[in-house]
Amino acid sequence: MNNDDRKPTTTDAGIPVSSDEHSLSVGPDGPILLQDHYLIEQMANFNRERIPERQPHAKGGGAFGHFKVTHDVSAYTKAAVFQPSTKTDTLIRFSTVAGEQGSPDTWRDPRGFSLKFYTGEGNYDMVGNNTPVFFIRDPMKFQHFIRSQKRRADNGLRDHDMQWDFWTLSPESAHQVAWLMGDRGIPKTWRHMNGYSSHTYMWVNGDGVRFWVKYHFKTDQGIDFLTQTEADRLAGTDGDYHRRDLFQAIKRGDYPSWTLKVQIMAFDEARTYRFNPFDLTKVWPHGDYPLHEVGRLTLDRNPSDFHTEIEQAAFEPNNLVPGIGVSPDKMLLGRLFAYADAHRHRLGVNYKQIPVNRPTVPVHSYSKDGAMRVQNVSDPVYAPNSKGGPKANGTRYPETAIWEAGGEFIRAAYTLRKDDDDFGQAGTLVRKVMNDEQRQRLVSNVVGHLKDGVSAPVLQRAFEYWRNIDREIGDQIFKGVNGSSA
Ligand code: NDP
Ligand code: HEM
Repeated sequence: MNNDDRKPTTTDAGIPVSSDEHSLSVGPDGPILLQDHYLIEQMANFNRERIPERQPHAKGGGAFGHFKVTHDVSAYTKAAVFQPSTKTDTLIRFSTVAGEQGSPDTWRDPRGFSLKFYTGEGNYDMVGNNTPVFFIRDPMKFQHFIRSQKRRADNGLRDHDMQWDFWTLSPESAHQVAWLMGDRGIPKTWRHMNGYSSHTYMWVNGDGVRFWVKYHFKTDQGIDFLTQTEADRLAGTDGDYHRRDLFQAIKRGDYPSWTLKVQIMAFDEARTYRFNPFDLTKVWPHGDYPLHEVGRLTLDRNPSDFHTEIEQAAFEPNNLVPGIGVSPDKMLLGRLFAYADAHRHRLGVNYKQIPVNRPTVPVHSYSKDGAMRVQNVSDPVYAPNSKGGPKANGTRYPETAIWEAGGEFIRAAYTLRKDDDDFGQAGTLVRKVMNDEQRQRLVSNVVGHLKDGVSAPVLQRAFEYWRNIDREIGDQIFKGVNGSSA
C-alpha cells in the first residue's frame, strides 16, 4: 500500500499527527517538549489500559451467537426468549475460576459458562458453570472459598494445603470436589463441555402457574477431557489453549453448539421432594426429573475487539426477564447483589451503556448521570410525574415470580430432607456414573494434589472426607499418598 493511501494517524481528538516514531525535540540532540501532546496522550493512555480483572473468573474468552427455540415449552414459561421458533442473539463467556488473567487455561478448575440473551424483553443473563453443583450452599462462605483457592498472603503462592483445609472443613463441598477431581475437571476445550444453571430457577407461564427449573446445556461436540499430564504439558506450552481453540474453530466455520434441556419440577413438589431442591450442592437425579428439550445455542461470531466485547462484558444473575425468576437458593440470592456491585467497581456505574452490555430494546429507566454516562436522559427525571415520563405497568408485567416464606430470623442452612446428606450424591457419582478407568484417574488426580504440600492434619481429614464419599476410593487415596496399606 502506498504511504499516502493509509489513514493518517491522529490523536484521540482526531487531529492528524506528524510522526509515529519521533517525539518533538529541541534539535536532534536536545530535550523533548511537554507541548508534544500526542506523546503525552500515548503515555497516559498506556498507563490506564488495564482495568481491574474480575475477582473470580478473571481468565476467559468468548464469542457471539444465537439461541433458537426448537421445542414448545410455553406451558412452563411465558418468557419471550423461550417461545416456539424464537431466535435470540447471544454472547457467551467461558472462564476458569481461580486463575488470574495470564493463568493457563488448562488448570484444574470449574469453568464458567456465562450467557447473555439480547431478548425482546431486555437482557437475560444465565451465569452458570460447567458443573451442575457447587462447593458451598451459603453465600457467607463464598468469599472465603475463593480466597482459599487463590493465593496465600505471605508468599503470594497458590497452596493445596489451604484448598483442602477449606474443603475438608466444609463437607458440603464433597460432591463438587468429586466432580472436579474427575475427568470433567479439565475439559479438552470449552466446546467439549456442558453448561449448567446449577441453581434452580423459577419459570412462570402465561396463566401465572409456577415451576422450578434447572438448565442443562449439553455439548453437541461430545464431552472430552484432558488428563492431568496433558493439561500440565499444555499449561507450559500454550497457556491460552482454550481461548485459541474457540477462536480458531469459529474462524474456520466449525461453529460449536449446545442443546438446551431443562428439568422441570411442579411448584408444590419442592415442599416434599426427598432432596432440598434449592440446595446448590445437589442435583435432581434424572430418574426423578427427566430432561425436556428447549432449543439450540450456536456460536458463530468471534469478537473483533477482545477488550470492549469480552473484557467489558458484564453478566449478572439478576438480569431476569418476565416468565423467569429466582428460587429460594441462598447462593443465588447472594449472587443477585454481587455481580452488579462488581461491575460498578470494575467498569463504572454506567456499565450497561457499554455496547456489549446494552439491551437491544429501548431503555426507559430513571437512572441518571454518573461517570461515563453517554446516552441522553430526558425530562422528567423523577417518578411519579404528570409530565409523560415512563410508568411501570403492573397489569401487563405483574410480579409473578414469587413464593411464600415465614419463620423467625435464623442463621442456618436448609432444613434437611429424607435423602439430604453431604456425601450421598458424591458417592453416587464415583460409584454409579464413573467407570473403573475414570475412578482410577480420579484417585490418581487426588493423590497428586494431596502430595503437593498438604500438611499432616489436613491430610488426615482429607482421607476421612474421601472415605465418607466412598470407603474404597478413600482407602486407595490413603494408599496412594502413603505408599502403604490402609
Ligand atoms: P444419570 O445416570 O441419569 O446421569 C449421570 C450424569 O452424570 C449425566 O448427566 C452425565 O452427563 C454425567 N456424567 C457422566 N460422567 C461423568 C463424570 N465423569 N463426571 C461428572 N458427571 C458425569 O444419573 P443421575 O441423574 O441419577 O445422577 C447421578 C450422579 O450423576 C449425580 O449424583 C451427579 O453426581 C451426576 N450428575 C447428575 C446430573 C443431574 O443433573 N442429574 C448432571 C451431571 C452429573 P452427560 O449426560 O452429559 O454425559
Ligand atoms: C464471576 C460472585 C457463585 C459463576 C463472579 C464475579 C463475582 C462473583 C463477584 C466477578 C464478576 C465480574 O467482575 O464480572 C459470586 C458469589 C457467589 C458466586 C458472591 C455465591 C454467593 C457462583 C456460582 C456460579 C458462578 C454458583 C455458577 C453456577 C460465575 C461465572 C462468572 C462469575 C461464570 C464469570 C462471569 C463472566 O464470564 O464475566 N462471581 N459468584 N458464580 N461467577 Fe460467581
